[in-house]
Amino acid sequence: MEDWNDDALPGSGDETTDRATDRATDRSTDRATDHYWTGSPELRSRPRDIDLLLPDLDLRLTTDNGVFAADRIDSGTRYLLMEGSAAPEGVSELLDLGCGYGAIAVVLGLRNPAARVWAVDVNPRARDLCRANAVAAGAGNVVVAEPDEVPEGLRFDALWSNPPIRIGKDALHALLERWLDRLAPGGRAHLVVQRHLGADSLASWLDHHGWATTRRASRKGYRLLDVSARPGDEGTPR
Ligand SMILES: C[S@@+](CC[C@H](N)C(=O)[O-])C[C@H]1O[C@@H](n2cnc3c(N)ncnc32)[C@H](O)[C@@H]1O
Repeated sequence: MEDWNDDALPGSGDETTDRATDRATDRSTDRATDHYWTGSPELRSRPRDIDLLLPDLDLRLTTDNGVFAADRIDSGTRYLLMEGSAAPEGVSELLDLGCGYGAIAVVLGLRNPAARVWAVDVNPRARDLCRANAVAAGAGNVVVAEPDEVPEGLRFDALWSNPPIRIGKDALHALLERWLDRLAPGGRAHLVVQRHLGADSLASWLDHHGWATTRRASRKGYRLLDVSARPGDEGTPR
């Protein structure tokens, strides 16, 4: 299996240590969480706390076996939170697609207290953790839901995601199509994807299918992609 976190990001601590830790963490994460998105209920629970330190926030989050990046914040997630787009003024509905234990959703909730943040994941254990982490952080505006629980007519002003690349290309495309076409007119999505896991071909696919996509930033093998709602389809239920 390929590692998710093969590179440490500058600024996230000792890079040599980080890189070694990433590799060790990912090997153990892969063993413990093969197909982490299924949330196998039989996987023994072992809750633990990890820290998420950002220039504006200092959070402690609870993780567990069976969820993505259980032993430390994923480097791509941290990159998205550090250098990804901020929400525009006046937004009301935001989405964290594939929320896991809530690193992105909780930060979005705290940074945008007037907005509602939908945190969506198929993994029940991840949803429970996200819900608890949002409460513990005081992010009362985070709503955790299964994908089908999100009201049909709801449209999002912006979406953030460290998407589940490992579900496979066709499933990933279907997932992105489903949610990108729920962006409100003028809405944007902000994705972090590893280059060696197909960031550039995903960007081309998105662009080719009408979601204008630009590379906002690139560092240490990660790409931050900004994706615009498809003209004409914006806000149209599909
Ligand atoms: C790369 S992880 C990111 C988790 C979290 N946002 C983070 O940054 O740590 C992708 C997440 O997508 C979830 N996922 C997989 N398939 C999904 C689907 N069809 N709908 C929603 N979430 C899904 C997985 O369970 C996983 O938690």
